Amino acid sequence: MNLPAAASKPVTLLQLSDSHLSEDPQARYRGQPADANLATLRPAIQELKPDLIVLSGDVSEDASPASYWRMGGFVRDLAPQIAWIPGNHDEREVMAGVFDELGFEAGPVVEAGGWQVMLLDSAWSDRPDGEMNDERLAPIDRLDGSAPALVFVHHQPLLVGSPWIDKYPLVEPHRLWDRLAGKPVKAVAFGHVHQVFEGEHDGIACLSAPSTAANGVREAPRFTPSEQGPSARWFRLWPNGRWETGLLVC
Ligand SMILES: [Fe+2]
Ligand SMILES: [Fe+2]
Repeated sequence: MNLPAAASKPVTLLQLSDSHLSEDPQARYRGQPADANLATLRPAIQELKPDLIVLSGDVSEDASPASYWRMGGFVRDLAPQIAWIPGNHDEREVMAGVFDELGFEAGPVVEAGGWQVMLLDSAWSDRPDGEMNDERLAPIDRLDGSAPALVFVHHQPLLVGSPWIDKYPLVEPHRLWDRLAGKPVKAVAFGHVHQVFEGEHDGIACLSAPSTAANGVREAPRFTPSEQGPSARWFRLWPNGRWETGLLVC
């Protein structure tokens, strides 16, 4: 029996990460015009027509309400559903103050085309690395075993081989991996590393989204600008658990 077309149609998710906007729209981040670089992605996002956009942290460089309002204004007409997690440069309360008003979702679980999109918080505003305590890991236990899941977390839950950013990973990542064991998680997607990374841990794909503002060379001992311009990661998610991913560039 053929399923109706609608039942087999994928949803398109776009992960935007590490935009590092400041209160001043002209401010530069690592020498790059953060607002202008984000804006270069608009035509490609309009062409992609995402059903859901996930902002995976470091939306702001200075946690100013103005920076969150500008991001909100940028994405609100680009997808019908927007979700977010904070990064180490963000302040969760300030973000929530703006994004709640715009109807953006903080999860911890957002449903999208038969998938469970899980939004986990690894960030602390007073430290650059990430950590998840029991309270932050607890939502994982709520995952429904019968539907595929995609997990978002800001910090890298494995080393990406990049000295300048592997100084600030998710610490004690085994706590996350232990909790995910046996769950229907296809991939863990993160930001924070400002470069493209695609790896795997215990059969779960581990994928970064590059920054929309500034990206760095992997092997360098300290941040060194790379050729990777403003970019993002997209996912297509089919209800039967099939999925694919790729990069969105301007
Ligand atoms: Fe960042
Ligand atoms: Fe970060």
